[in-house]
Amino acid sequence: MTDTAVNAVINVDIEGPQINRHVYGHFAEHLGRCIYGGFYVGEDSDIPNEGGIRLDVVEALKALDIPNLRWPGGCFADEYHWRDGIGPKEDRPVMINTHWGGVEENNHFGTHEFMALCELLETEPYISGNVGSGTVQEMSEWVEYLTRDGDSPAVRQRKANGREEPWKVKYFGLGNETWGCGGNMSAEQYALEARRYATYCRDYGDNKLYRIAAGASDFSYGWTETLMKQLSHLGCQRVERPLYQAVSVHYYTVAGTWADKGAATVFTEDEYYTTMAKAARTDELLTGHGNVMDLYDPQKEIGIVLDEWGTWWNVEPGTNPGFLYQQNTMRDALVASVHFDIFHKHADRLVMANIAQTVNVLQAMILTDPDTKALVLTPTYHVFRMNKGHQDAASLRVDTLGETPSREVDGASLETVSISASRKDGRLLVSLSNLDAEAAQDVEIDLRGGAVAEVESLILTAGALQDHNTPQTPETVAPRPHEGVSVSGGKLRVHLPAHSFVTVAGALA
Ligand code: AHR
Repeated sequence: MTDTAVNAVINVDIEGPQINRHVYGHFAEHLGRCIYGGFYVGEDSDIPNEGGIRLDVVEALKALDIPNLRWPGGCFADEYHWRDGIGPKEDRPVMINTHWGGVEENNHFGTHEFMALCELLETEPYISGNVGSGTVQEMSEWVEYLTRDGDSPAVRQRKANGREEPWKVKYFGLGNETWGCGGNMSAEQYALEARRYATYCRDYGDNKLYRIAAGASDFSYGWTETLMKQLSHLGCQRVERPLYQAVSVHYYTVAGTWADKGAATVFTEDEYYTTMAKAARTDELLTGHGNVMDLYDPQKEIGIVLDEWGTWWNVEPGTNPGFLYQQNTMRDALVASVHFDIFHKHADRLVMANIAQTVNVLQAMILTDPDTKALVLTPTYHVFRMNKGHQDAASLRVDTLGETPSREVDGASLETVSISASRKDGRLLVSLSNLDAEAAQDVEIDLRGGAVAEVESLILTAGALQDHNTPQTPETVAPRPHEGVSVSGGKLRVHLPAHSFVTVAGALA
C-alpha cells in the first residue's frame, strides 16, 4: 500500500449520459502504409486476404468492436475524386498523393473496397467528402451512388459495378480541415459552403445522413461559433432538421513543436509529463467548444465529433517523412487512457471521436512490418480493448475527495490519477490511470447505491515508459491479470503501479 490513498466515490445507481460507442471510432486515410500495406494488400498478395483486405488486421480490429471507420482522409479527402476509385481496377486512373509523400495512388482501394472492409469489420462507415477541390455535384452523386435505391444514373453505375443494394451510410463529413489543407477558407466562407454542400447530400429512403461540418483546429472557438450561428439562423426558419448534425474539431497531442515533435521512443521524463499535460488539455478543449455550442444549442442537439486525435511524433528514422509512421510506447497508451476518461466525462455532447490513425500512421493500433509482413499490436491497441466495455454504457460520475496527487508541469497543474466509470448490462467498469512516472498510487473507491462482485482486473504497464512492441518482442507491453484489487465493506481498493493503466470490471448487485 502507498502512504496515502486517493479517495473517490461512485454512485453506481445514478446513471449519467450514455457514452456513445462512436467515441471509440477509427480513422483510415490514404496516407503512407495505412491503406496500402496496412488494410489492403491486393488480391494477389500471399498474405491471407479477402478481396485484397488483410484478414489478420480485420481479426485484430474485430476484437476491439470498432464502431466506425472514417475514410478516405484527412487532407487526402479534399483531393479525392470518388469516381476514380470505382469500376475495373485496371481502368482506374493514377493520381499523385501530393499531401502524403508525393507517391502514386492507383485508386485500387475505392468505394467498394472500403464498404467491403466495413462489412468485414462489422463497423459503420464514416465518409469524408471533398469540399476543397470537389464540387457539390460530385459529393451529391457520391451519396446517391452509395445510398439510393431505385433507378438513377448513379444507381445504374453502382449496379454495373457489382453492387445491387444500396449501402447504409450514416456518417458523412462535409470536408476536412477547411481552414487549412481542405481549402484554406475563412470560417464565414466555409460556413456558407457547408450549407450548400449539406443541402445536396440527400437522405434517400430510410438512409438518414448524419452530416458533420468540418470544424476547428484545437482551441479556435470562433470557428465553432461561426458554424453554430449558421444553424441558429436556419432553425428560425423552421427547417425540419438542421443542415448538419455535428461539428468536428481536431486536436493532436504534440509535445514538442510542429517542426520538431520529438521521438516516439526516446524521451525524457520531463517530455513525458509535457505530453500528458497536453493530452489532459482535451478536457479544456471539449469544455470550451461545448460552452460555445451551449449558447446556440442549449439542448445539445448538435454533437461534437473529435474526428482526429492522438499523439504525433517525428517519423521513425529512415522512413518517408510524408508517411507519418511512428512507434507507440507505454506513454501513448496513457495518452489514450486519459483521453477516454475525458470522453466519458463529456458524454453529453461528444458523439464521436476517431483516433488518428488505425494502422501504420501516427498513434496506430496496429503496425505491420513491410519486410516480414508481421503484425504488431501496440500499447494503444490494448487500451482500446481493455476499455471496450464502456461503449454505449451509462457514464458514472467519479468524485475524488480531498487532495488528489498532482504535479506542476510547464506552469500548470497535472493530476496524476485519472479515473472514469460506467455501467452496462448489470456490470460495472472502472478505468484508472496512474500517470506518475515513478511512484505507485493506491485508490480507494466508495461504491454507493450497489455492490460489486466477481471482480476481474487487468493491468497494462511496462518496465519503462519508452517500452514498446516489435515483431521480435510483440508482448513487451500487453495486458496481464492484476492482483492488486480487492473489494470489502463496499470499498474497491486498487493498487496502481507507476505509469500503469488498470481496468476493474464486476457484476453489480
Ligand atoms: O492525420 C493526419 C492529418 O492530420 C490529416 O490528414 C489531417 O486532417 C490532419 O492535419
